[in-house]
Amino acid sequence: MFDLTGKVAVVTGASRGLGREDALTLARLGADVVITDILLEDDPDLRTTAEGANSVLAQVAAAQGWVYANATAEEIRRMGRRSTAIKMDVTDRDQIREVFARVKELFGRIDILVNNAATLDHTAQIPNQDYRLWDRDIAVNLTGSFNCTKEVWPYMVEQQWGRIVFMSSVAGTLGGFGQASYSATKAGVIGLARTAALEGGRYNITANAVVPGIILSEAGQAAAQSNPMYERFKNRTVFKRFGEPSHIAATVAFLCTEEAGYITGAAIEVAGGIPLFTA
Ligand SMILES: NC(=O)c1ccc[n+]([C@@H]2O[C@H](COP(=O)([O-])OP(=O)(O)OC[C@H]3O[C@@H](n4cnc5c(N)ncnc54)[C@H](O)[C@@H]3O)[C@@H](O)[C@H]2O)c1
Repeated sequence: MFDLTGKVAVVTGASRGLGREDALTLARLGADVVITDILLEDDPDLRTTAEGANSVLAQVAAAQGWVYANATAEEIRRMGRRSTAIKMDVTDRDQIREVFARVKELFGRIDILVNNAATLDHTAQIPNQDYRLWDRDIAVNLTGSFNCTKEVWPYMVEQQWGRIVFMSSVAGTLGGFGQASYSATKAGVIGLARTAALEGGRYNITANAVVPGIILSEAGQAAAQSNPMYERFKNRTVFKRFGEPSHIAATVAFLCTEEAGYITGAAIEVAGGIPLFTA
């Protein structure tokens, strides 16, 4: 069971954090995996790209060396799978089209898309939400997921098989204090996943959303250390602890298997029971 041998996956925002863990887990199940991200460690323009991304987190990641795209591809190749890291900004539709065409040429097919890329560092209450960051969050988290879904669709239709996973958040299902833009995008991807599920059924394409609580990726750890509200979030889980990237990756990978072929249009919480305390 749970064998992805022969499948080709593209994961967006996979140079660190949950996307990286998703890529490794898909590979452990047998898939060939293409790591894509706006940041690659061998990019000579890494610092400029990070600054251009209009994201504090991108600059921290570049400065701290949290960019493991090529290293992750290498780790996957050492497992005996095919893998490569390709720069892809999910807001750049021409680039996405070119990257998917290249993946098809290099790997022969595209079976799995994990829409993981996102910006997580815009926190301010509504009067202080920054219009530029609002626009950025919609462009990356919501429109970016749509761009990749639209561009991968013809490949999956041609194969009559596909798996698309969207990354939502409990901020999308419950709201997020100080997270208007992020929360709106994470609610939006659930609508997008359900629409893709309705339209994909006739082609054997499933589309689902994973709804994490607080997970200790590099970004999650940094937020947990700097934001006192995270202690409250932790105490609202039934376990009184945060989640691990492997909890998300296992769910994402399962949704990509043949065995998960009757699960579509679902929004699956991996949140340590946080919502139970808000009911
Ligand atoms: N960590 C958590 O607690 C948590 C909770 C709920 C949901 N999520 C979701 O899980 C996903 C991963 O979260 P994470 O904690 O690993 O965050 P992260 O910031 O570490 O990872 C996001 C990745 O997306 C990339 N990225 C940003 N803008 C991009 C763009 N325009 N094009 C391509 N790549 C881009 C970044 O470079 C980074 O590698 C996100 O969708 C996030 O919203 C995370």
